[in-house]
Order: sequence, then C-alpha cells, then structure tokens
Amino acid sequence: MPEPFKRAAVPATSVFKPDLFKDKVVFVTGGGSGICYSVTETLMRFGAKATILGRKADRLQAAAVQLSKDTGSEAFAAPADVRDIDSLHAAVKATLEKFGKIDFVICGAAGNFMAPIEGLSSRAFRTIVEIDLLGTFNTVRATLDEIKKQRGTYIHISATLHYSGLPWQAAASAAKAGVDTLSNALAVELGPFGVRSNCIAPGLIAGTEGADRLVPQGGEDIVESFIPLQRPGSKHDIANATVFLFSEAANWITGQIMVVDGGHVHFRAPWLPYPDSVLDPKSFGELFKGSKL
Ligand code: HXC
Repeated sequence: MPEPFKRAAVPATSVFKPDLFKDKVVFVTGGGSGICYSVTETLMRFGAKATILGRKADRLQAAAVQLSKDTGSEAFAAPADVRDIDSLHAAVKATLEKFGKIDFVICGAAGNFMAPIEGLSSRAFRTIVEIDLLGTFNTVRATLDEIKKQRGTYIHISATLHYSGLPWQAAASAAKAGVDTLSNALAVELGPFGVRSNCIAPGLIAGTEGADRLVPQGGEDIVESFIPLQRPGSKHDIANATVFLFSEAANWITGQIMVVDGGHVHFRAPWLPYPDSVLDPKSFGELFKGSKL
C-alpha cells in the first residue's frame, strides 16, 4: 500500500515577490505570540512595518525587538487589551505618530479554555466572547477611520471548531461564529469605501496554545490521520494565506472565510481506517462486503 504523502509547509517568502508590502503598515492584535507573531514576522519579511498589541507589556516589547532584529523591518509594541476600546484608540494614535498610517489590520487576539457547560460561569463565557468577538469589534471601531482613509484591509483570525459541535468549547465556538458573521457584515458595509474584510480559519496548527489545549496528549498521530493532507498545519500555512489576502491578488475578495486546515473540516467518517481505506481501494471494498446498511 502506498505511504500517505505529506506536502511540506513552505514559507511565503519562497513564493511571493520580496518587496510585496514595502511601505505598508500592519496593526496586529495578539501579535506578540502564537500564530499572529509568525504572521507578523512574515509580513515584515515582505517589508511591512508592524504594530503588535497584547496585554503583557514586557513580553510584547521583547517580541517587537526580536521581530525587528529577525526581519530588518520595524515592529512597535503597543500594550492594549482588546476588551478596552480606549487602550485600542491609544494604540492607534501611537501607531499613527510612529508610522503615519495603518493599511492592514489583523484581529487575532483570542482567549480560550476547555470547560464543560456546567464548568462555565456566566462571567467565564462573557470573558471569551469579550476577548474574541467584542475585541474584534473594538479593534475595527478603533481603526476604521484610518482604514477607510487608506482603503485598507481587515483579516480576522477565526477557527473551524464552530462548524460542528466540539465538546468543552461552547464559548469560543459561539464567539468565533460571531467573528465570521461580523466580518461578512463589514465586507458588505465597507466594500463601497474600498475596504475589504475576510477571515482566516485555521485548523490544527502545530506548536500553538490552541493545539496544546485541544489535542489530548499522545493523540497527535490520530488527529493527523484524519487530516486529508496528512499533517497538522504550520504557522507558515496561516502566514501564507494572510500574505495572499492582503496582496492585490485578492483585490476582489471580501466577505470570505478562508479555511486553512488541510481539508480537515470535510472529513466526516472517523469510523473508517483513514487514510488506508482510500490509499488501498481493494481493502476499502472489502470493508463494505456484506454491509447491511
Ligand atoms: C472555567 C475559567 C477557566 C477554565 C478562566 N475561567 N479559566 N472557567 N474553566 N479553565 C473563568 C474564571 O473563573 C472567571 O470566571 C472568568 O473565566 C474570567 O477569568 P480571568 O482569569 O479573570 O480572565 P482573564 O485574566 O481576562 O483571562 C482570560 C482567559 C485566560 C482567556 C480566561 O485563559 C487567558 O488570558 N488566556 C491566555 C490567552 C489564551 O487563552 N490564548 C489561547 C488562544 S487559543 P469567574 O466566574 O470565576 O469569575 C485560541 C484558539 C481557539 O483561542 C481555536 C482553537 C482551534
């Protein structure tokens, strides 16, 4: 039987032209760590300057220094909590003083934890909705004047967990569903101003807090086998999608949710020995011999 083929993740810098985002300024909530740190790094490698936002000032400042050092571009740390719109207005003001404009916004700040419904207090549910959904709205509200002026682009980092039910993820699922529909509404309302709004919905991305929390220890191989492209995502995969959606190649794309998950959301038959059942059609046929269904 053939071995499952695993496509390697490639960095966007090996695909797109090097000065793609020269003179662009990106404003990234959650840019101090995780997926959004890597996305910021990639955009900076294409010449963009970046403001990164997060709650922990020390960690944020260290991240900005590292990003600037690694990319040769300029990152600026603006401590803010997306639940507090005044802190976002202050970060926008500081960005305009520092870089003069904002072209792109990534709403990437997120909070999440695993908890059964009975283990969720009303305040706990509200906390996640406030960070993920209200935080996205606040970020849009604080940047909107500038983004309209630049005819800029929003990308919201969503998720795929709300496409079907995922136990212990009620709050994040509800919040991310809201993010998707908020983005669609923005696309419709802001399109006539030349502003685009899209979501990226990452699947399982290796080396992230989300993967650490959602995949049980030792379960990585099983999860991987249910992903049609046979590997977990890498932060490069999300960065590449971001580069495309901010680029002029996506000039007529708005109100879309780009799922970047190796095909995982389409797999609906965990009772099959996947991928062996499709790599070896003969044994697949054997499986259903005498099936009563
Ligand atoms: C139940 C919990 C809880 C848990 C917190 N709470 N953790 N309830 N189970 N594990 C409750 C608290 O008891 C409290 O309610 C309320 O939530 C607020 O908690 P605080 O700690 O006061 O909130 P805060 O300090 O603002 O912390 C926010 C946080 C925290 C989200 C709760 O976990 C955090 O800051 N995490 C770091 C960021 C993060 O989560 N990143 C992961 C992103 S991954 P009561 O009623 O007791 O007062 C991601 C991926 C999603 O988002 C998609 C995956 C595919």
